[in-house]
Amino acid sequence: MMKTILKSEALQKYILNTSTYPREHEQLKELREETSRKYGARAFMGVPPDEGLFLSMLLKIMNAKKTLEIGVFTGYSLLTTALALPDDASNIVVDMKQIVAIDPDQGAFEVGLEFIKKAGVENKINFIKSDAVSVLNEMLNNEGSEATFDFAFVDADKPSYIGYHEQVIKLVKIGGVIAYDNTLYGGYVVSEETEMHERSVVNRKAIIQFNNHIASDSRVEISQIPIGDGVTLCRRIA
Ligand SMILES: C[S@@+](CC[C@H](N)C(=O)[O-])C[C@H]1O[C@@H](n2cnc3c(N)ncnc32)[C@H](O)[C@@H]1O
Repeated sequence: MMKTILKSEALQKYILNTSTYPREHEQLKELREETSRKYGARAFMGVPPDEGLFLSMLLKIMNAKKTLEIGVFTGYSLLTTALALPDDASNIVVDMKQIVAIDPDQGAFEVGLEFIKKAGVENKINFIKSDAVSVLNEMLNNEGSEATFDFAFVDADKPSYIGYHEQVIKLVKIGGVIAYDNTLYGGYVVSEETEMHERSVVNRKAIIQFNNHIASDSRVEISQIPIGDGVTLCRRIA
């Protein structure tokens, strides 16, 4: 099944076949295929490749150097980010690694790690096996982390999105960008709850509350991008 909110599968196939698959990095393709083999239908959690190209382009346009990844799974978006960031010799010092990536599921990260290593970008990543809230709190309590990140990608537990926003907004620089994934939730933000499983009902409600929360947040400019499952870009302005 393709991860898209486009109502035409033919159109999504056209996008993938014409401009996405031919441009997908070899190790991203391998990571995506291994994720499918290992996780079956759960592979759906990974960011789709057309969204990956979008994030990669965005990171390069921004000239992002330091990023935060909340929700790693097998690391499709993480490897995308690592490939997009400039090579920087300073990252050999642990604390200076360019990407802080947080997820309690180390096993899933290790599935993707093989391809991250093969792509030669492992040295850019500081993977932290943990729930994100506590790591973000620790960063906020330590001097020197506030307003230091250029970019953050949030793709974890949906009911925590509002909480993550309140933490991450302090960690990204003014002018930095936070991208939130799944903000159209398969299109269910506008459909009836009766069609859905209990967990999805909770997630759907959380996403709707989150979308309303950031729509009225004057500290950010926002743009809702209808790619993948919906990505909302928030650019910190205050
Ligand atoms: C949709 S997947 C992330 C997909 C990933 N961006 C990719 O491209 O493959 C969501 C991930 O969030 C993680 N997660 C769930 N609750 C979390 C939490 N409290 N803190 C950090 N990560 C969490 C899950 O373990 C899961 O791996």
